[in-house]
Amino acid sequence: MEKFELQELFESLTLNEKIGQLVQLKGNFFSENTEINTGPIKKINIDQKIVKNIGSILNTMGAESVISVQKKYLANNDKQIPLLFMADIINGFRTVFPISLGLGSTFDPDLIKQTAQVAASEAAVSGVHVTFSPMVDLVRDARWGRVMESYGEDTYLNSLYAKSMVEGYQKDLSPENSLVSCVKHFAAYGAPIGGREYNTVEMGERTLLNDYLPSYYAAVEAGCQLVMTSFNTIDGIPVTGSKKMLREILRKEWGFEGVIIADHSAVKELITHGVATDEQEAAKMALEAGCDIDMMTAVYANFLGPLIESNSIEAHYLDEAVMRVLNLKNMLGLFENPFRGANPAKEKIVHTTTEALALAKETVIKSCVLLKNENSVLPLKPEKKIALIGPYSNTRKLSGMWSFAVDQSKVVTLKEGFTACASPGSLRVSEGSPFLDADTELDGFRSNVVESIDPIVSLKEALEVAKESDVIVLAIGEHVDQSGEGGSRAYLRLPEVQMKLLKAMKELNKPIVTLLFSGRPLIVNEIEAYSDAVLQCWIPGTAGGIGIAELVYGIANPSGKLAMTFPFAEGQCPIYYNHFNTGRPVSKSGVGTRFTSRYLDIPNHPAHVFGYGLSYSRFIYGKPQLDKLNLSPSNPIEVSISVLNESLYAGWETVQLYICDCVGSVVRPVKELKGIEKIYINPQETKIVRFTIEEKMLRFIRGDLTFASEPGVFKLYLGTDSEKVQELEFYLTK
Ligand code: BGC
Repeated sequence: MEKFELQELFESLTLNEKIGQLVQLKGNFFSENTEINTGPIKKINIDQKIVKNIGSILNTMGAESVISVQKKYLANNDKQIPLLFMADIINGFRTVFPISLGLGSTFDPDLIKQTAQVAASEAAVSGVHVTFSPMVDLVRDARWGRVMESYGEDTYLNSLYAKSMVEGYQKDLSPENSLVSCVKHFAAYGAPIGGREYNTVEMGERTLLNDYLPSYYAAVEAGCQLVMTSFNTIDGIPVTGSKKMLREILRKEWGFEGVIIADHSAVKELITHGVATDEQEAAKMALEAGCDIDMMTAVYANFLGPLIESNSIEAHYLDEAVMRVLNLKNMLGLFENPFRGANPAKEKIVHTTTEALALAKETVIKSCVLLKNENSVLPLKPEKKIALIGPYSNTRKLSGMWSFAVDQSKVVTLKEGFTACASPGSLRVSEGSPFLDADTELDGFRSNVVESIDPIVSLKEALEVAKESDVIVLAIGEHVDQSGEGGSRAYLRLPEVQMKLLKAMKELNKPIVTLLFSGRPLIVNEIEAYSDAVLQCWIPGTAGGIGIAELVYGIANPSGKLAMTFPFAEGQCPIYYNHFNTGRPVSKSGVGTRFTSRYLDIPNHPAHVFGYGLSYSRFIYGKPQLDKLNLSPSNPIEVSISVLNESLYAGWETVQLYICDCVGSVVRPVKELKGIEKIYINPQETKIVRFTIEEKMLRFIRGDLTFASEPGVFKLYLGTDSEKVQELEFYLTK
């Protein structure tokens, strides 16, 4: 539609038709079944006049469903304005990739971009227009269940991923291959106090600007068309009602012109937060703050009308928001083709292609992190007699929360993956235990979790199987529904029933390889103490079984690096590598006088640091070299380092560059990641890695809140993780 036609359409709209554009409901509002229909309408008490004019639909997917809802809607819609279909497509659609925290561990933004491209192609033919992804909330506290949806604790890395995901989804914005991206949850939703879901966020402005906002900005800069507000408050104001966050920062400073959508029910929650007295006040606050779409409440639907009619809100707020939604529909070509990419016949061709499954396997291989490998117990020889034991050993439940659309029939179990790699007759499998302790109540997203396995019988069976083996491979971990939204936990341990299994296996005195599944960093000390090798597998998705088996048997070589610190104990949370030094840092050995910054009962040091991950290869770093010592804004410097692969295994290594600004107008972190270079090195080969250091990499939010660098001494660290590094010094001059 031409711009003037859109303007004409806009001018023809009645008040209810305008308000409708700002309301998002679920597809079952348009079901033919009136019983289902009246249920949710009654529940959220929304006026039918608005329902017939709403602007968008939440989480209806599948070409046939989308086409049917769109048809029913348009049959009743006077102005023939098509619906937008928005959905949570987070780490894949029919082909499911590892959870985002796993993808984060690949340290490979280009690979991650490809996963977004596959998800976009698969979802576009299934009728989806907008994905509520990427979720780029910075996370420092493993107690929060949604760390699984994030790319980890580092601002620089998160920003790289934000960009690559947006570019991957949106590609050329063609109907067949792309989705429009909605970055979320703006902002700082990943920092709830105590890691408790939906809790208050308290942070200084500098931390917000310096550490938490850049990843959302990177998504906006990459061209994402929507932003979702977060549930939380910042400095006492819920973001969904915050003019400062939405109008000043997002719109004015960042120049964002796309659509802002409130998270599910967040507009109405302004009342429960205690900043609005009633729904009318909540509607006014959210719209004036800059929130265009109200997701799944009747607040805009029922109260924007009276507000406008009584002149209690300026009409331009409504008009601008409506125009933004119409512009998005027009950009997607919905006026010409309301069904856009939706195509039932093509779904069969485009979903879970061989290429998509190969990419899924590659991402599993690159996301797993080898945490321990004593005496090189891994990789296993195919002829070894293996007992594959544990609740994860033979299940297709390998996809994390939000994988609504996963094609279960394509999920490869560990048993299938191991069978493909092992010598015939060398593998025996036994579940060994249920996932959860009998007294754990867990209502998951899809259904309540019901365990049917008897712990005593299964343990007995597993012991019999294990006795016959050379090596025990234990596939254990959190239940998939123990992480994700509403998945906060105070204890980051394995269920007791699984620890019992691990300990019983240890008694057999055979090598134990633990495959650890989780949506977050768990407390791994005890697990590692009982295991010879530990591979962190996250929640790996469709190709989990085969990717992991290839790693275990050495067909592939682990290369994942932790994108989030693994705490030593829950009491360390929040914990992150780029912290401040404090005025009384503890000595390197961890022991010191009482009056240093430390715990009496646990070390400060985490179980595993950010960036950590072992390989079957042995990488030997040479001495880093700077081409000069002085850096100025017009004169970058270059640092180089050689890496030799002194082993029989070809492998990927991620060389990490960290910088510390030694003295600043405000305290600067002990080190910050500023560059990564992932290289493939053949046995006995040496590769040289080079990084260019520019003045703009040294900028930060200064004492006066300006964003600039400050001349002085800097430390530069190069190495294989955030701790095993070599140090150099350079100077920034004016
Ligand atoms: C989540 C969002 C999600 C939305 C729609 C909310 O509960 O916080 O991340 O996009 O639901 O499903």
